[in-house]
Amino acid sequence: MSELSTNKIAGAALGTALVLSILAVVTPMLFEREPPAKPGYAITVAPEEGAAGAPAENLTPDWGTVLPTADVAAGEAKAAVCKACHMFDPAGANNIGPGLYGVVGRKPASHPGFAYSAAMQAVAAKQPIWDYQHLYEYLKSPQTYAPGTKMTYQGMSSAQDRINLIAYLHTLGSNLPIPPPAPKAAAPAAGKAPASLSGPPPEAPTPGASPAPAPVKAH
Ligand code: HEC
Repeated sequence: MSELSTNKIAGAALGTALVLSILAVVTPMLFEREPPAKPGYAITVAPEEGAAGAPAENLTPDWGTVLPTADVAAGEAKAAVCKACHMFDPAGANNIGPGLYGVVGRKPASHPGFAYSAAMQAVAAKQPIWDYQHLYEYLKSPQTYAPGTKMTYQGMSSAQDRINLIAYLHTLGSNLPIPPPAPKAAAPAAGKAPASLSGPPPEAPTPGASPAPAPVKAH
């Protein structure tokens, strides 16, 4: 009898030990964290220490570099929030906000039939067109960029989201060319920037195909 209860106690202790050791193995697995698949975008919030040469985020992206590599589909997804107030189709109908088809490169406050605020007309007085940089600043915080604007949207803080969104807007009948990449960012072999987002990626001339003749000097 007493032997039996000793066995029971031993059994219970063993069982507890088993449960504890299983927990010890399983628990860390539950809390294991996957490292991020990729370390992030090239354009992220610059570290406070101001790493040497880090791109000045939110100031001036090099549009010739960031637009051709932007994720247009992601930008289109981001535009869903704009559709509460804006139409994006070529018919250009106004809604709560003006029609946005072709807005990239368009004069601010110029869409026919829309009653713009004085704030937006003041933007138009200073800014001849909606270029990439001005859209980028406006969309970050409309009320900061144009205090008093009728656009009550609060803004999009992520620089990369805005770049993708602007790349998407650019596909909507924009007449504004994409500038060539700034020299420091240009790939050595790539000659010119593509003129549009829709074209195929620029092909570097294949030097391997026909070996360049050695330069011959006249003398
Ligand atoms: C809550 C409604 C609302 C939302 C959401 C909104 N807008 Fe607007 N937007 C407006 C209004 C209203 C104006 C006119 C502003 C004025 O006259 O001050 C405007 C103006 C603009 C202009 C200037 C157009 C011109 O003809 O000069 C741009 C560009 C613009 N919006 C882009 C966007 C984008 C991109 C988004 C999504 C990220 C967005 N808006 C989200 C209401 C909105």
